Amino acid sequence: MKIDFAELKIQLTEEELAVLQGKQGSVMQKIMETVVLYGEALNAEKLIPIEGSGHFVISFSSPGIAPSIKMLEELVAAGLRTQYPFTLDPRGALDFENLNLKPEVERALLDMYEHQDYYEQLLTKLGLRDNQAFTCNPYQPEVGNIPDRGTILAWSESACAIFANSVLGARTNRNGAIMDLLSNIIGKTPLAGLLTDEGRCASWLVDIVTDDLPSPHLLGAAIGRKVMADVPYIVGLDRFLNPELDSFTVDYLQDMGAMCATYGAVGLYHVENITPEAVDFGQDLLDPGYSTFKIDEGELSAFLDSFPQLWEDENSTPEKCFIGCPHISLRQLYWWADAIQMELINTARKQVAVETILCSAPQILEKFTRDKEAYDRLERAGVKLSPCCCETIFETGLKAGHPVITNSNKLRAYSSARFMPDEELVRVLVSGELAGAEHD
Ligand code: F3S
Repeated sequence: MKIDFAELKIQLTEEELAVLQGKQGSVMQKIMETVVLYGEALNAEKLIPIEGSGHFVISFSSPGIAPSIKMLEELVAAGLRTQYPFTLDPRGALDFENLNLKPEVERALLDMYEHQDYYEQLLTKLGLRDNQAFTCNPYQPEVGNIPDRGTILAWSESACAIFANSVLGARTNRNGAIMDLLSNIIGKTPLAGLLTDEGRCASWLVDIVTDDLPSPHLLGAAIGRKVMADVPYIVGLDRFLNPELDSFTVDYLQDMGAMCATYGAVGLYHVENITPEAVDFGQDLLDPGYSTFKIDEGELSAFLDSFPQLWEDENSTPEKCFIGCPHISLRQLYWWADAIQMELINTARKQVAVETILCSAPQILEKFTRDKEAYDRLERAGVKLSPCCCETIFETGLKAGHPVITNSNKLRAYSSARFMPDEELVRVLVSGELAGAEHD
């Protein structure tokens, strides 16, 4: 179908119209058409320039998720690349030396990622920053994709876009796979939604009235399922979190945001007295006629109890434990290493009873392993480190129903893994025993 671009509501510049007429070649013409139609669908007023590095969800080559190899080849053949180097989500679970998977699972993963090396070569030509730029926590200092406040971006990966918007104060919509890459090649993104001042106002006031700081994995999920795609303004967390955005607070907000984005389609939240726009504008960020809801311990514990039990045998001894969806920071890695060590000492054990894998960015793992004493201790405890996206193991379908435990409410949502808050998980992974399990 021929599109009459003059009929669209989105306003285009002379330069953009020239690209649409093919003045920069047929591939750029197709990209501009795609981005313009995306903008029209978002009711964008116009396209605006992207001002910083991208972060994209398209890290692996599995069919149906990543852009097809054919499309990437076409972009490379046209000599195109993004204006800024980009980072990507973690690679799939191909680091078998860390994962101890069954041969049939390894075979399925190798089939899924058959073209991974070639795919990465193409992405490198298109602007991938380097061969270690694979994580879903790219704004950690060790990784360094940290946009400044106000920077216009076109990011994907819901867990990352929400952090860039909320905690860093950058501006990006929740772009989908392919649209992320194409927007960054053309260097423009539609002015709509979370890129506008109005789109960043909140239509919900969420009042946290718990006595203690709740698990970010539970709280974020509870907020996401309530507000769905809206923007929440959260009050009550400043009783527990540091307004200076120390590393504990940043990690908490990263985990909470990833869960908001998973259980709803939230792309931005404000936390009173903590996140930058909430600090500057306070409750002026609330839309007139906003809705309110409270979250207390009762609501969170009822939510936790509502998670379905998806193991084949609910009393099985746990077989594996994945921590790091999204990838954990260096501070969290040390927290887990210390917590596991303390529990081993307290229970007079030498090794964890459940195979445990901590997932983090390659640069963070590298830094941690240089701390020989801490790393050796963790290794002796039987814990492995991995830079992978652990969720990809479940995409093979071969882990469904297996007794896997996790502290990630995102991994729980995407798999049959059982969620446990951090302190309970430490106890279970060290002892191998589930609280309340029935044994013969
Ligand atoms: Fe990251 Fe994969 Fe979880 S990209 S957020 S580890 S699903």
